[in-house]
Amino acid sequence: MAPPTWLTSIAAPIVLGAAIISVPLTRSQQPPLERWGADALPAQAQVIDQKAFNALAQVPSQDAFDGSSLFYPPGTDSASLKARPFHVYHDDFYAIIGSNPTLTVVAATDKDPLFHEAVVWYPPTDEVFFVQNAGAKAAGTGLNKSAIIQRISLAQADAVKDLASAVGQVDVVTVPSSPQVINPNGGTNWRGQIIFCGEGQGPAVPSALYAMNPVPPYNTTVLVNNFFGRQFSSLNDVAVHPSNGWIYFTDVDYGFLQDFRSKVNIRRQVYRWNPDTGVIQAVADYTLRPNGLTFSPDGKWLYVTDTGAAQGFTGVDWSAPASIYRLPVNDDGTLGPNELFTYVHVGVPDGVHCDTKGNVYSGVGDGLHVWNPAGTLIGKIYTGDVAANFQFAGKGRIVICGETELFYGTLAAEGAHITDL
Ligand SMILES: *[C@@H]1O[C@H](CO)[C@@H](O)[C@H](O)[C@H]1NC(C)=O
Ligand SMILES: *[C@@H]1O[C@H](CO)[C@@H](O)[C@H](O)[C@H]1NC(C)=O
Repeated sequence: MAPPTWLTSIAAPIVLGAAIISVPLTRSQQPPLERWGADALPAQAQVIDQKAFNALAQVPSQDAFDGSSLFYPPGTDSASLKARPFHVYHDDFYAIIGSNPTLTVVAATDKDPLFHEAVVWYPPTDEVFFVQNAGAKAAGTGLNKSAIIQRISLAQADAVKDLASAVGQVDVVTVPSSPQVINPNGGTNWRGQIIFCGEGQGPAVPSALYAMNPVPPYNTTVLVNNFFGRQFSSLNDVAVHPSNGWIYFTDVDYGFLQDFRSKVNIRRQVYRWNPDTGVIQAVADYTLRPNGLTFSPDGKWLYVTDTGAAQGFTGVDWSAPASIYRLPVNDDGTLGPNELFTYVHVGVPDGVHCDTKGNVYSGVGDGLHVWNPAGTLIGKIYTGDVAANFQFAGKGRIVICGETELFYGTLAAEGAHITDL
């Protein structure tokens, strides 16, 4: 069994012991799939009955938990969970997956985490862009060389959607951004271009927001690279509000915690930038490590993931946040008080996006988790390993970055409209 690598999810390649805890179960503890009607259940889906493990015969020792283990619900194991990767935790999930969801591995590497973050769909060419993990030792990137941007064609991915694995059948093409985006991480669509967060490099190359032309020659422009002359720490993710046009982004210390930035001398927080007036202001500073962010489709809520538990090369603190918070967006674009939306049970929540119905999806330690707007876990798209980020490509299509694996999925849900203000 491959060691779980989800601790690299925020580009923090700490691989701990590989023990996977599997709790043996009696037959009577197995979830009664029949009661859902085998016919109604899509071939790629399975029901996970939370009640079946509310009271376990044996709960693993506190001392055994080091965060590197996956929990297997009663009657399941690694193979069975991956065999039907759409896990239904709540009836609401049926409408999201539809009658015939699919999940395909379209690219894979041995160790190099080429498939990490900044998943952006560019509709005019129907391509999806993504970036390599800048902080991972296995990538050799960060201080010595920059992480790269790559892209795939969704027409190619869609042609192989009925296969579980189609590695080699979808071209993964390097994007020669120019001047190069240094250590790209998060990204989003903006005014016909793509905005990337560059995490910076060493003490001298500042972290910055770059705009990139999504077609050749992939020319770039630095939009923001300082806060009144001070360097940001390492900008992580970016989202455009669907109606006010401000660009919201997170700044966090992973470049430092992964040894490719020099020091942390600015607060970890959420900022917003007005591209027309140049105004930049901090708008939220409650998080330990603000990471992914996205707006609800109506623009009334900002969801921010907090990967506080993951401390890069210095380790992990399981009592720290592995949580998604949400904050109301006021009419003037400022944010109201944060409230806990959810706490994830495996890994840390990293990239986050909504569908058109306001359901919230985030990449965590075993794939994507999906919550309804009440914060209830309603399902998973299970990869069995870390998924740092993902993005919808319009209606019924999703691309998931799994570090060393790239997934293409089809389902019924549609991604919340990505604003191009
Ligand atoms: C950077 O390069 C030096 C010298 O080749 C090497 O010792 C070091 O491990 C490299 N660092 C990373 C993060 O790859
Ligand atoms: C790329 O170059 C074109 C042509 O000069 C220009 O119109 C466009 O704004 C540039 N895009 C970026 C992101 O720099």
